[in-house]
Amino acid sequence: MSFTANRIVLASRPRGAPTAANFRFEQFSLPEARSGEVVLQVLYLSLDPYMRGRMDEGPSYAAAVGVGDPMPGQTVARVIRSQDTRFAPGDFVAAMTGWVSHAVVRGETLRKLDPARAPLTSALGVLGMPGLTAYVGLHDIGQPRAGETLVVSAATGAVGSVVTQLGKRSGLHVVGIAGGPEKCRHATEVLGADACIDHRGPHLRERLAEACPRGIDIYFENVGGAALRAVLPLMNQNGRIAVCGLIAWYDLGKLGAGTADGPDHLPAAWRHILVKRLTVRGFIVSDHFDRFPTFLKEVAPLVRDGQIRYRETIAEGLERAPDAFLAMLKGGNLGKQLVRLTADPIPGAD
Ligand SMILES: NC(=O)c1ccc[n+]([C@@H]2O[C@H](COP(=O)([O-])OP(=O)(O)OC[C@H]3O[C@@H](n4cnc5c(N)ncnc54)[C@H](OP(=O)(O)O)[C@@H]3O)[C@@H](O)[C@H]2O)c1
Repeated sequence: MSFTANRIVLASRPRGAPTAANFRFEQFSLPEARSGEVVLQVLYLSLDPYMRGRMDEGPSYAAAVGVGDPMPGQTVARVIRSQDTRFAPGDFVAAMTGWVSHAVVRGETLRKLDPARAPLTSALGVLGMPGLTAYVGLHDIGQPRAGETLVVSAATGAVGSVVTQLGKRSGLHVVGIAGGPEKCRHATEVLGADACIDHRGPHLRERLAEACPRGIDIYFENVGGAALRAVLPLMNQNGRIAVCGLIAWYDLGKLGAGTADGPDHLPAAWRHILVKRLTVRGFIVSDHFDRFPTFLKEVAPLVRDGQIRYRETIAEGLERAPDAFLAMLKGGNLGKQLVRLTADPIPGAD
């Protein structure tokens, strides 16, 4: 018996900043599950900055979403029917269903979740892709040594909040960069950063220099833009930059075609890299999924004990996903941005 489900598709490609008009809510007929397939009801959808990149055409590490196709995304879902012996109705799983209310997927693409071990939503944030990104970027790329100074931008977001806390646990002097006084207070009072600089305020570079009296050894780069321009002159010799994301520039398009206005900062940036012998390394978390078991073994107990804390910003209803996504891109979220798709009680959440 097939039934009608909901989804959000890419209605058109954005020019510059995306708007609600780039998305369309529609209904579709869910196919029957065949052998090896599982029918899922989506409970939570993860909203992530990488989805902005998928809305544009052009070369990248993953294919663009087609116009008219569902937006991609990771979800936590409940199995409602199964043609795969490894899954039974009522099981909870992490899946790549996209922005949909229901999906039929192959069993081997799913990861079973136990709500008794960790809250289900943590699989999309602190104990999921963003947490692993923080772990790999800080430890494998950043190579921290106790006593060094770490700066992390988007410090209270899904990735940055874990970087900040892991940085403190590695004995670093940690300085966050975040948007607004409330987020900066959260970075210092809840996440344990030694200082946090509001990038919306004036004199970013001067305030950052004051907070980093011994210079910067590691920069965990989440944003680009003004934060990067403030950080580069403060980098120490042999410093490391883990290039994780460039959210301040995502609306310029994949080839940076919109950068023509204003001064060309590239010569100064390149000179800092040369003169200070910086190691600048971009990384994509999907190349590091082999680190997931080590990450979980180390970080899951810390989350369980409350030694690593996390926040979530949760929108209600699939139809709210575009607005929540657009808000997240502009800093509307504290911690991980999620959408809850059902009003029914969810174990481990209600
Ligand atoms: N390389 C990888 O494999 C990988 C994996 C996951 C994520 N990422 C990247 O990591 C970054 C963080 O991702 P996330 O999921 O943790 O998102 P997030 O930090 O939870 O949310 C995005 C944040 O970006 C900040 N932001 C937006 N525009 C900005 C601007 N112009 N200047 C400064 N900050 C700005 C906002 O924080 P404020 O309010 O503090 O400004 C906003 O809350 C993104 O760039 C993402 O693309 C990369």
